[in-house]
Amino acid sequence: MLSQAQVSTTALLSLEMTIIKNYAKIIVLTKCRLSFFYYFCKKVKRMDRFFDKLENSLKDDSVVKMTLSKPVSKNSELRNIYVKPILLKDNKMYQFTYRYERRDETKNFDAAQTMEQVRSLVPETFQNVSLFTLTEDVTLLVSKKGKPTLMCKKVQENREQDLSHDHEKQRLIDPNKPWWHLLGLTTREGKVTADMQHKYKQICKYVEIVDGVMRQTKFDDEIHIADMGAGKGYLTFALYEYLTTHYDKKIEMEGVEIRKDLVLKINDICKDTRPCVSTKSTIRFVECSIVDYQPSRLDVLIALHACDTATDDAILKGIRNNAKLIICAPCCHKQIRREMERSGKTDAITRYGIFLERQAVMITDTIRALVLEYCGYKTQVMEFIEIDNTPKNVLLVGRKTDKPVDKEAIAKQIKGLMDQYGIEEHYLWKNLWKNCRAY
Ligand SMILES: C[S@@+](CC[C@H](N)C(=O)[O-])C[C@H]1O[C@@H](n2cnc3c(N)ncnc32)[C@H](O)[C@@H]1O
Repeated sequence: MLSQAQVSTTALLSLEMTIIKNYAKIIVLTKCRLSFFYYFCKKVKRMDRFFDKLENSLKDDSVVKMTLSKPVSKNSELRNIYVKPILLKDNKMYQFTYRYERRDETKNFDAAQTMEQVRSLVPETFQNVSLFTLTEDVTLLVSKKGKPTLMCKKVQENREQDLSHDHEKQRLIDPNKPWWHLLGLTTREGKVTADMQHKYKQICKYVEIVDGVMRQTKFDDEIHIADMGAGKGYLTFALYEYLTTHYDKKIEMEGVEIRKDLVLKINDICKDTRPCVSTKSTIRFVECSIVDYQPSRLDVLIALHACDTATDDAILKGIRNNAKLIICAPCCHKQIRREMERSGKTDAITRYGIFLERQAVMITDTIRALVLEYCGYKTQVMEFIEIDNTPKNVLLVGRKTDKPVDKEAIAKQIKGLMDQYGIEEHYLWKNLWKNCRAY
């Protein structure tokens, strides 16, 4: 039997234990609450820090550009928003380019509206936002669970703001010119139609690149250019329009196209609209295959999406005619894919169908670039436009030089690639040797 004193001590002890346990619970709970509160504050703080930085850079006018990316909804047609400062009637505005799957839309906002827009879009619509200012790059990444990460980096180089309106850049080509409507690119009022926006963008970009490359090349007073596989002649007209407006030289432009109906139609458009800014220059289209085309002189060869081996024929035409520049955006790459499939030789990459197709593209264009190098062309391979405009967005640019080349080493590389993938012939490499002098 326990004495009265013992009973009271036990009761006291158990009471104390209960109090301690409850205390412990309170401490754990408080700690949890505190850390949640701390985490929440940190989260809000990181977001706020980004918006503070944006607000400050809008105030001190140092925004260079901003990109909103990673849409929250996987089904969103809107992929990105690009923001850049522009001058509109002497007022500083911010141009928002909304990039949808196959079109762009632009809207202009002032600084306060820009702030509002970005606040409403991040993180509800876009998970990531990158802000580039004259002094700092700031990136806010918000995870699926809503956890923000903020990264800031001081800018080392001297940056400048580009205040030109995007339209100005696109307006390298003037959509009001009468041929654009007749070619089906614009409405009668000179507005690029919705479904031709991507084509317009593509030709503007192509012209911008060709211009950049041409400006690094020496020409005499005349420049003879041939556009191989000219199709409807968008690029031919675009480049002609640009060069006759911006170059003080005689431009002789020829579009080469195998389809008679197209050639007849475009030559009619040439006659009707006379796209000849300076009377010295000429543009015409010839109905003929690239192989049969015999230019009297060729300084610049261009080809945009000439199908399959037509690109090889075009490159070869440029090489044989000693063109100073060869600029091609290849199209489908069937010849090499068929060769690879026929050989049955697969490796860890090409045993997957989709990679076989991609590897065929890479090998075809790598060998094209090597052939150009072999023939004395300093060659660059670049992406000429965003992949969401067209997946056929690789550009091969070859510039003729007098520098000696190690032909043996290049031939070895070509042969090595062909052996590796069981390719018996590469159309361009084979034809380089056909009926010709030794290279
Ligand atoms: C995909 S379209 C590209 C048209 C144009 N360059 C453009 O990007 O808007 C290819 C054009 O090349 C033409 N073509 C294909 N093979 C040709 C060849 N061997 N000789 C001449 N034209 C060819 C086709 O008839 C077609 O009009």
